[in-house]
Amino acid sequence: MRKPMMAGNWKMYKNRDEARALAQEIVALVGAEEAVDIVLCAPFVDLCAVAKMTDGSKVSAGAQDVMWIDEGAYTGEVSTPMLVAVGCKYVIVGHSERRGRFGVWPKDWPEELHAVFMDNDVSVNWKARAALAGGLTPIICCGETIDERHAGTTDTIVRGQILAAMAEMTEEQIGACVFAYEPVWAIGTGEVCEADEANRVCGMIRGVLAERVCCGAQNIRILYGGSMKPDNVDGLMVQPEIDGGLVGGAALKADSFACLVTAAAKTA
Ligand code: 13P
Repeated sequence: MRKPMMAGNWKMYKNRDEARALAQEIVALVGAEEAVDIVLCAPFVDLCAVAKMTDGSKVSAGAQDVMWIDEGAYTGEVSTPMLVAVGCKYVIVGHSERRGRFGVWPKDWPEELHAVFMDNDVSVNWKARAALAGGLTPIICCGETIDERHAGTTDTIVRGQILAAMAEMTEEQIGACVFAYEPVWAIGTGEVCEADEANRVCGMIRGVLAERVCCGAQNIRILYGGSMKPDNVDGLMVQPEIDGGLVGGAALKADSFACLVTAAAKTA
């Protein structure tokens, strides 16, 4: 039986004081919930405050990205040991908003800015392995764009992302990862993937994991992300292959996030 997980991805929202206040509210509402692993993935500068505020509760702090090297002359980067030192337990790796956004750019951004978001299949693999080696649980993201979906290539794209993310990992390492299926077209759009289709793709992902992990794929958690909200969470969480959510917008308010956690707890 897989323990459900509800992870909030706060993206580039909340300064330190706002983050502390939101974490405090979430702890007050669901901080004693034992049936769900609850993660708050906050901006780097907020992590210290969030980790302190959640200390002693069932809520953990997570980062949104990590460098694959422990230390060195890499201006602007943050490493696994640094995240661990402030009490971080998880890190999101390969979110589509960091994987070059698959070319989904705001129209007014010149091409020169596109390279600022630079993750690809190789960096995702390196980051995930560095996180595992240093004691963080990576939440590895995958998902197709709307064009890829329309072209009928969803499964090929997602399969490729998952296989690449697992390259050179041991079975034990793969088993220590969390995966998140986030169709790019459903992120921040209000357009949720139909629950049975999200379940199908998550099941397909589990099949890919099973190719690399002899018998443990049934124990690996696969989350859904993309416009998950209190009014659609039940339909998603009831799906057998969906073990939780990676949530953007609805994670920015304590009451709606708590609602998602409670819905996940019902399926435990
Ligand atoms: P939304 O829940 O805002 O669609 O964002 C999903 C997401 O990108 C989580 O990582």
